[in-house]
Amino acid sequence: MRHLPNLQCLDSAEIRAILSKAAEIKADPARYDRLLHRKSMAMLFQKTSTRTRVSFEVAMTELGGHAIYIDWATSNFVLSGIEHETAYLSRNVSCIMARLYHHSDLQKIISASLVPVINGCDELYHPCQALTDVLTMQEHYAGDLQDVHLAFIGVQNNVSNSLITICDKLGITMTIATPELQGNTASADTTVNQILQTSDRINHTTDPREAVQNADFVYTDTWIDMQYFNNPEHREENEAKLALMKPYQLNSALLDGIDCKIMHDMPIHDGFEITAELTRDPRAIMYEQAANRLHAQKGLLWWLYNEAGNLS
Ligand code: CP
Repeated sequence: MRHLPNLQCLDSAEIRAILSKAAEIKADPARYDRLLHRKSMAMLFQKTSTRTRVSFEVAMTELGGHAIYIDWATSNFVLSGIEHETAYLSRNVSCIMARLYHHSDLQKIISASLVPVINGCDELYHPCQALTDVLTMQEHYAGDLQDVHLAFIGVQNNVSNSLITICDKLGITMTIATPELQGNTASADTTVNQILQTSDRINHTTDPREAVQNADFVYTDTWIDMQYFNNPEHREENEAKLALMKPYQLNSALLDGIDCKIMHDMPIHDGFEITAELTRDPRAIMYEQAANRLHAQKGLLWWLYNEAGNLS
């Protein structure tokens, strides 16, 4: 059975098929409104979410199915083993999407599940976001994706890990501007590091100005993991990170004269990784990008259910 723990598990043809179906369903949603008729998906959340929760729930509804939100903290996942709870869950739903702190727990869910499992973001990967991001770049770029230059400015994290992977697979040029590679050790990933060392399309620089020159898309993400952003116990660590990252802020001076689209996976922290002014800039496309989560999820759900031989 196929799952989506990360984008390493898909080949480029499969990624293109998901994106193509996402665009097809977006153009003609009524044609697919019974694709997942009477199917139910469990959405398991250890962490907060707006977009991942809403887009998956709306996607299931619009495809004729149903999504069930499960808050980890108020479920019996807190009392029992992941394997037992998953073994039950996968006998009552046809797909599981999980947003967890640790990728190792996602692997436990995959091992115990009888149905496809989707990674809704963990400390290593955010595959659904990267699929959305390429779908969005396709819509905002007139030429071939292989001519696109994406500049990611910020910390190397789960989002940049998945972007590096998808860009490498699709032949998109990507520059990551970050003070240090895998400085965020929780997100360190050997496969991604290998791509950075060997791919001639994926580059690293410590200079954000160099990265944005000739970029078609300039992308940023929060500098601090969302669960730690307002945590007083992390105040000192957060302040040090904010000081280190300040030169990497997306602001009018950095993007002065750059003919690019501005992307952010959201949630946005105004005045930190991006200025409020730039979120209102005519070049900004982050709301369209976020709205595309819905369409990318539909393409992904089509692919997973089709692979499982379980389409209506
Ligand atoms: N980008 C993203 O995953 O948004 P949420 O954290 O709100 O789901």
